[in-house]
Amino acid sequence: FTIKANEIKAEVAPTMWGLFFEDINQGADGGLYAELVKNRSFEFDVAGMGWKEIKNKDTDGSALYQNRGNANPANRRYVQLKSASGRYGLANEGFKGMGIKQGMQYDFSVLARQHEGSSGSLLVELVDEKGTVIGSTSVKPGSTDWVKYNASFVANATVPKASLNVVLTGKSGMDLDMISLFPKDTWKGRKGGLRADMVQLLADMKPGFFRFPGGCIVEGRTLDERFQWKKTIGNPEDRELIINRWNVEFKHRLSPDYFQSFGLGFFEYFQLCEDIGASPLPILNAGMACQFNTAEVVPLDELQPYIQDALDLVEFANGPATSPWGKKRAEMGHPEPFHMTMIGVGNENWGPQYIERLKVFTKAINDKYPEIKIVNSSGTDPSGDRFDYLDKELRAMNVDIIDEHYYRAPQWFLENAGRYDNYDRKGPKVFAGEYAAQSVRIASPDNKNNWHCAMSEAAFMTGLERNADVVVMASYAPLFAHAEGWQWTPDLIWVDNLRSYGTANYQVQKLFSLNKGTHVIPVLLDNKAVTGQDGYYASATIDRKTNELILKVVNSTGKRQSGAFVIDGAKKVQAKGSLTVISSTNLEAVNSFEAPDTISPKVSSISIKNKRINLDLNPYSVNMVKVKI
Ligand code: AHR
Repeated sequence: FTIKANEIKAEVAPTMWGLFFEDINQGADGGLYAELVKNRSFEFDVAGMGWKEIKNKDTDGSALYQNRGNANPANRRYVQLKSASGRYGLANEGFKGMGIKQGMQYDFSVLARQHEGSSGSLLVELVDEKGTVIGSTSVKPGSTDWVKYNASFVANATVPKASLNVVLTGKSGMDLDMISLFPKDTWKGRKGGLRADMVQLLADMKPGFFRFPGGCIVEGRTLDERFQWKKTIGNPEDRELIINRWNVEFKHRLSPDYFQSFGLGFFEYFQLCEDIGASPLPILNAGMACQFNTAEVVPLDELQPYIQDALDLVEFANGPATSPWGKKRAEMGHPEPFHMTMIGVGNENWGPQYIERLKVFTKAINDKYPEIKIVNSSGTDPSGDRFDYLDKELRAMNVDIIDEHYYRAPQWFLENAGRYDNYDRKGPKVFAGEYAAQSVRIASPDNKNNWHCAMSEAAFMTGLERNADVVVMASYAPLFAHAEGWQWTPDLIWVDNLRSYGTANYQVQKLFSLNKGTHVIPVLLDNKAVTGQDGYYASATIDRKTNELILKVVNSTGKRQSGAFVIDGAKKVQAKGSLTVISSTNLEAVNSFEAPDTISPKVSSISIKNKRINLDLNPYSVNMVKVKI
């Protein structure tokens, strides 16, 4: 093998390796968003979903859900609790229970008003699965008007599936809304914030971009149920909840109560991007509902509100704090801009209806914000007629970036590592926006995050890296899954109520993301790109900031192989470098909650003599050498 250290082929975009986030598999509610109470404001389809009555033998009490209807469309319902005698209240089951940690402070809050003539207290209890109280507090509403009350307490036990009781005792009555419980240890300690362990796993990858909020939820099952960013900002109680599109599909594996509370809304997404150093990439609805569900589109002459949403989003993200939408951002605590440079129009939309709508969006965005790059959907199938049609149309429009998705067998990833070697260099750039090797088949519940899939993705990613002049962004999908609340597998990171771990695929993504370098250089075998000959895949970059050469080599065979990589064109090469290896002789091997490091990188040092890297490659291995040049 020859590495041509002084032949720069392309710059590696700072955005090259990033993240795709969607509220699927309890990604947001019941996952990243640290709220522990499910249906906190009783807005789910059925007001009492997630809640159960608590009463004793001697109890005389009632819970009546009140619907204010259009008087308060974003927050229609509240509960009216009355108790005449005994102990009466409601218990919330959380999202598959509540994960509670011993010694941790929990912050309870509620909107409440006392009924005329009542002066009761609300008892707040966290209980374990046996009903033992593991932490409690109380609030005493002092007014017959709505007021927000807060109370904090410390839990005295670690419990993976606790529940929360809110209880009246004796004769009293009050109205309650937005019943909420958060742990204190959220990401950056923000009140009402995100689960710190989950964000940390993202931050550890140093992602170049963060795409949100999906995925199919952008489109919605119907247009009425599409994601509308303007309804996800401001006070949490004013954010209008909708059914999650993933509540419908794959229903057999899901409780029917998957809604989007939007506690994690567009402001929080932008803030998260800033926290983890990722460029924000919001995707907006193109005036089309999810085409897998229905052929529902908005007529072209009624597309304007959708376009206005896109224009206003740029102002919300980047506009001065004095502009109408920039002011809303400032009021939420961020007067500085979020520096958004890209926007996506549509997700997995296809056909002439998409192109017609896209053209109107493109003109409006380009006219007002020529500096913003537009990401365009290319459907779902990287080789079918839909893809070919869109690819042709999008190239004819000379669009900025085309978003390609591939959920394919591991073999497809191995065979397509050269996919971009002959792509048009002058046309649009490519965003490999959603990809994951499927161990069984797409949408199979039996797909595993096994080493076979992860290693095949690594082989494919050497092809993306080699073609960094065409491919400017890439992200695995989906990102998160809750072990008891998922609709789709495989996924990059698995969590339960208390734990989280990165899969084998996560380890591969992280390796590429942390070691992307700044410029691509050729690595050749017999003067050709290394893309499957004898099972080898390779790419190389240099990092001009650290003066390192970074070589990535995949041995996709089950036998040990050796390879000599001669560095051509470097003035000097240090005698010692580092070698990072991820490998397993078992292609079925997976990481798990119990053994999260089964597939993980092992780092050692490697000697380099006469500008020659001699590699002894484990069977089924992903290898990286870094050396100063
Ligand atoms: O990642 C899961 C789904 O796959 C996304 O919502 C959609 O864009 C794709 O079909």
